[in-house]
Amino acid sequence: MLNKYLVSALILAVAVLSPAAAQDLDAGKAKAQLCAPCHGADGNSVAPIFPNLAGQNWRYIYMQLKDFKEGRRSNPVMTPMAEPLSKSEMIDVANYFAAQTAKPSAFKVDEAKAKLGQAKADENLCAMCHLGGFKGQNEIPRVAGQQYDYVVQQLKNFKARIRTNDAGNMTSVAQSLTETDIENLGHYITSLR
Ligand code: HEC
Ligand code: HEC
Repeated sequence: MLNKYLVSALILAVAVLSPAAAQDLDAGKAKAQLCAPCHGADGNSVAPIFPNLAGQNWRYIYMQLKDFKEGRRSNPVMTPMAEPLSKSEMIDVANYFAAQTAKPSAFKVDEAKAKLGQAKADENLCAMCHLGGFKGQNEIPRVAGQQYDYVVQQLKNFKARIRTNDAGNMTSVAQSLTETDIENLGHYITSLR
């Protein structure tokens, strides 16, 4: 009982202190309708080639939208989606998706491959940047539970220097990864919650 009142009081206090923030989430939710056909209304994507955005760091989402708009990252499907967005629309929509809950992937993970992927992740010190369990931080994305096909494609893109908006961090990490390593890492990362 006491806890319930305390929580209500806190919510009220936050609402009073930051009315703008609450409004921005509504604006972000409205904007997110444009993204729903691919990324899902709640940021859990509708197909394995589209990345999940639910629970992603808002700052990372914002930076990627900016990169697509300004041409540092390019994709024939996604670039035209980012182009019309203003800075505040990007921030609102990023905060909306960051506040959604990521659902576990439906991908059928091969346990043996996931194990090899985990060993590769340890060997390459992925956690140094992405943190343990690929939780992510600030501009470094959360990759835990991300769509398998998307993860594999991005690692290949970094390796082939097709995606270069990472200040060299991922392009250099990806150089030593073989096709099999990339698949194993995909199984491991997708299995994380
Ligand atoms: C028609 C499908 C489609 C729609 C609609 C769409 N996207 Fe995307 N989005 C993609 C694809 C495909 C990619 C992966 C691009 C790549 O491989 O580089 C992507 C990637 C992204 C990424 C990068 C994610 C990451 O993990 O790096 C962000 C952020 C994003 N989209 C946000 C949005 C937002 C916000 C909207 C709505 C305003 C939107 N997208 C609408 C297809 C779509
Ligand atoms: C030196 C820091 C660093 C290390 C080490 C690192 N990463 Fe990254 N990673 C990043 C950054 C920064 C980005 C985002 C790049 C950008 O802004 O486009 C990223 C992006 C990614 C993405 C794309 C995510 C998305 O949503 O598009 C994947 C997948 C990924 N990393 C996997 C790995 C794996 C697997 C390892 C270890 C083998 C690893 N990373 C090691 C810094 C690092």
